Amino acid sequence: MSRKQLVVANWKMNSDAAFCRAWAQAFCAMPACDRETAVCVPSPYLGLMSSLIKDSPIALGAQDVNEFEKGAYTGEVSVPMLKDVGAEWVILGHSERRTYYGETDDRVAKKVQAALAGGLRPIVCVGETLAEREADRTEEVVVRQLKAVLDVVGAEALTRGAVAYEPVWAIGTGKSASAVEAQAVHSLLRMVVDSYSLLDAEKLRILYGGSVKPDNAPELFACDDIDGGLIGGAALDAQSFHKICAAQARTIL
Ligand code: PGA
Repeated sequence: MSRKQLVVANWKMNSDAAFCRAWAQAFCAMPACDRETAVCVPSPYLGLMSSLIKDSPIALGAQDVNEFEKGAYTGEVSVPMLKDVGAEWVILGHSERRTYYGETDDRVAKKVQAALAGGLRPIVCVGETLAEREADRTEEVVVRQLKAVLDVVGAEALTRGAVAYEPVWAIGTGKSASAVEAQAVHSLLRMVVDSYSLLDAEKLRILYGGSVKPDNAPELFACDDIDGGLIGGAALDAQSFHKICAAQARTIL
């Protein structure tokens, strides 16, 4: 089964209104890509970006959401609010949220469940730290993180979203996992989904994230189990994000 690749920009806590306008204008002026694309922006700019990209194929996403629908949760943003301002996607369980804001597997699973129930497509991030990789714990960590979500929402619902394998040591460091290293973890993650449902394992898109740039995207995107990317630093530049979205997958082995 062929999966349409998906490339997602994660701006993190960067941008202002002028940046949104310039980025959208530059990206939308470039030719549409064969891959599906999305841009996840800080919450205050969702409404603005929604209007800026409304006539283009790129979809809009947020970077987090609260698991409750409404109520006394000062500072939080709900699934209906994100839908209301035009978001289709939401990044959940990013390692920066797990590390700096104490998000547990259990909380990530609840957020994924809420997102799916409210019609948002979650991008569920998993990934090991450098210490975990060096202690040979990569498999244990990513399998635990993924199963925590699958046990709550099931495999079929998750295919409406995507999973992103993001080794923490590769995020923002300029040190990407090699295509061989990434493919090995992606194939393991797909096997985990397979143990819930073979059909859904074939359907589910598993993105790679961590220092993806225009020069390493062709090699990563050529791997059997890599179905696109989640792009941080390089996505702040509309040209380089577009190059990644349009990269010709190329096997270098
Ligand atoms: P990076 O970030 O591309 O800057 O490494 C990826 C991410 O955190 O999603």
